[in-house]
Amino acid sequence: MVLIRSIDVSPSMVNCSCAWASDYQQLNDLYQSPYTGAVTTRTATLDGFKEDETHTVAFMKDSLSSLNSYGYSPLPLHQYLEWIREFLGDGRSVKPFIISITESSAEKLSEMLVTIQQFRTSNSAWRSRIAVEFNSSCPNIKGHSPPSYHLPFLKPFLDVLAKAFHDDSTLTIGLKLPPYIIATQFRDVIECISSYTHTNSGIRTNPFAYFTCTNTLGNSLVFGDQARAPDANADMSESDFAVPPGLGGLAGEAIHALSLGNVYTFSRLLAESDDPAMREIVIIGAGGVTSPEAVERMNRAGAKIVGCATLLGREGVKAFEILSGNAQ
Ligand SMILES: Cc1cc2nc3c(=O)[nH]c(=O)nc-3n(C[C@H](O)[C@H](O)[C@H](O)COP(=O)(O)O)c2cc1C
Repeated sequence: MVLIRSIDVSPSMVNCSCAWASDYQQLNDLYQSPYTGAVTTRTATLDGFKEDETHTVAFMKDSLSSLNSYGYSPLPLHQYLEWIREFLGDGRSVKPFIISITESSAEKLSEMLVTIQQFRTSNSAWRSRIAVEFNSSCPNIKGHSPPSYHLPFLKPFLDVLAKAFHDDSTLTIGLKLPPYIIATQFRDVIECISSYTHTNSGIRTNPFAYFTCTNTLGNSLVFGDQARAPDANADMSESDFAVPPGLGGLAGEAIHALSLGNVYTFSRLLAESDDPAMREIVIIGAGGVTSPEAVERMNRAGAKIVGCATLLGREGVKAFEILSGNAQ
């Protein structure tokens, strides 16, 4: 069991926000699995995202890896809140939900947070069952670089998230971060997040309770003949690219070492911080978690909670049974 503020994640394994946590049935399966400690929704926007046939995913032939060109969920925030209301009200479980959100402007993100806060406070038992994860790192949005690669773009979003926390400090907020590759990027993120720590009644608190590291690695290319055919009879080798735009976000075993490196670097920088509020930040480790050994490596690198997406896409919810070492 791992507590992130008031959110109790038990067992310490979650699905990552992804296309396989998009509809009612998928969320219900994740909610009912005894091997998930929380359910993360696909990233929602205020009004939904226009999806077309260029938004898709392919799995690689020679490793348990994926390349996807998806943007955000086509479904708007209110659809997820409606379903979550049903799950929270059914009395079958006390499992929390992590609502993954993003928007193109800080103003719209602020509107989403107001809606979520109204929802959380409409029932006192729900405050500790709903967290928010800000997806700052999707590499597939045309014309919009992930703000977490350019901190001046990220700050306005962090400001509205921090304000939501100051208005109601029972809100658990996480940040979905991209894979970083150089030391200064990690240090700059830590310095930026630490600037939000404030002192309240003598206690130093940071609005951000956890980081999920990492999102997919953008600008990756997989050719059609490297991808698994969607079914046994289909021949993928004729299409040039594994996903129609060519470039996409790489995930699964192909990024495992990089994701481990991100978890390790952030967990060390957080642990060494002079700021006690920064030392409280929890890391959810994701990226190539496809076996119990990979879970163990994520934990060794510093992740308190471990998540997966690619394995979920390949195996369905059985993925979590596999990760816990209980699958036959
Ligand atoms: C098909 C697909 C869709 C994804 N969609 C989202 C998303 O909506 N929001 C998000 O924060 N991350 C998204 N991700 C990234 C995953 O949450 C995760 O960070 C990444 O895939 C690494 O985990 P993995 O190696 O287990 O796949 C997506 C990944 C995949 C493969």
